[in-house]
Amino acid sequence: MARNSSGTADQTPVGIIGAGPAGLMLSHLLHLQGIDSIVLELRSREYVEKRVRAGVLEQGSVDLLNATGVGDRMKRQGLVHEGIKLRFSGEEHRIDFRKLAGRSITVYGQQEVVKDLIARRLSDGGDIRFEAQAVAVGDISGQPTIRYRQAGDHRELRCRVVAGCDGSHRVAASSMLDDSFQVYERQWPFGWLGILARTPPATDELIYAHHERGFALHSMRTPEISRLYLQVPADETMDHWPADRIWDELRIRLNEPKLKPGEILEQGITPMRSVVTEPMQRGNLFLAGDAAHIVPPTGAKGMNLALNDVNILAEGLVEYFRSGARDKLDTYSERCLRRVWRAEHFSAWMTGLLHRDPAGDPFEYKLRLSYLRYVTTSTAAATTLAENYVGFDPGPTPLA
Ligand code: APR
Ligand code: PHB
Repeated sequence: MARNSSGTADQTPVGIIGAGPAGLMLSHLLHLQGIDSIVLELRSREYVEKRVRAGVLEQGSVDLLNATGVGDRMKRQGLVHEGIKLRFSGEEHRIDFRKLAGRSITVYGQQEVVKDLIARRLSDGGDIRFEAQAVAVGDISGQPTIRYRQAGDHRELRCRVVAGCDGSHRVAASSMLDDSFQVYERQWPFGWLGILARTPPATDELIYAHHERGFALHSMRTPEISRLYLQVPADETMDHWPADRIWDELRIRLNEPKLKPGEILEQGITPMRSVVTEPMQRGNLFLAGDAAHIVPPTGAKGMNLALNDVNILAEGLVEYFRSGARDKLDTYSERCLRRVWRAEHFSAWMTGLLHRDPAGDPFEYKLRLSYLRYVTTSTAAATTLAENYVGFDPGPTPLA
């Protein structure tokens, strides 16, 4: 077991596995309330700061970053968007978020959020252990321990509570799952080939394009850097996608002649999955973010759900460490899941609406086109898309 300088075992009130948006924000929120934590992260600092992921923040996430003092760079560099464009059948239609849902979104890369949180945690004296791999969580109904490996050593961290924020790797989840849990899962028959490229965005707002050759998305990071995606088969590899083919396909599917090829800075293929683990907790182990649920990226919800979970978890932990009361902690999963399922539904709905069905059923194709026309001509349907995209939190009370 690892010993610290005083010769005792390493311990902390809250052991956090994973330095993604969930783990880092949780550590930050707890610190602001005077609660210590230790974050164990499998990868190096450089790796997590460079890992390219999604980049859409709902207003609620922007507000959380600002309210907790980590929003300065986002305020300067984030791109505020008041709508998105839908393209299909050679037409373009705008969904006006501001008009339909009264809110905007901010385009700001997930790794920028991660950089801002790491910088702040370290300047606040936070303990983030990089290249530390959690291998198991033990005794989750009592005083849990995290067994981890760092620099070839086997170590142990004793905690009062463990937060599994380890993304889709699921070391934390596998330490608690048994027959009493439900894991709901859907594997989508396609993935996204994503590139980050040095080329000015050919659009001022995100373009979601439905095309008979497959879905495409034009997003962006800065006035010089674009983020672009193509629907590809689930088992596709990059070998089939030389740069010329990527650019040709993007221009065709996006129907965007202004898009100019540029240096590809990063590329990769991500399979698409929908997953929800219920409940998201057991004893003193709590799952948050991708460790608890995964959404396909079409609805741009992943980072927002992760931040929402840890905001709710931090509230429960603060109450617990201040007074010993577990009321909020015990209802953590329940309080998260309403929003999680709304986002799961929305993400699956957007995915089905915009992607080409690999089975190529012509009836499905016509239904999809009809729905796209409905969403772009009916205020009620457009409002459904807008209010979900900007972030909808279904309250406990149904409409009267
Ligand atoms: N030990 C320590 N760290 C681990 C382990 C492990 N065994 N396994 C995974 N990790 C780390 C990963 O290296 C990663 O940095 O946990 C972190 C999980 O971070 P994310 O994957 O970013 O997950 P989360 O914080 O929940 O954020 C969700 O990330 O994948 C996107 O679309 C998703 O936007 C969403 C967001
Ligand atoms: C991104 O900018 O990476 C992005 C935007 C919207 C999505 C998914 C990803 O739906």
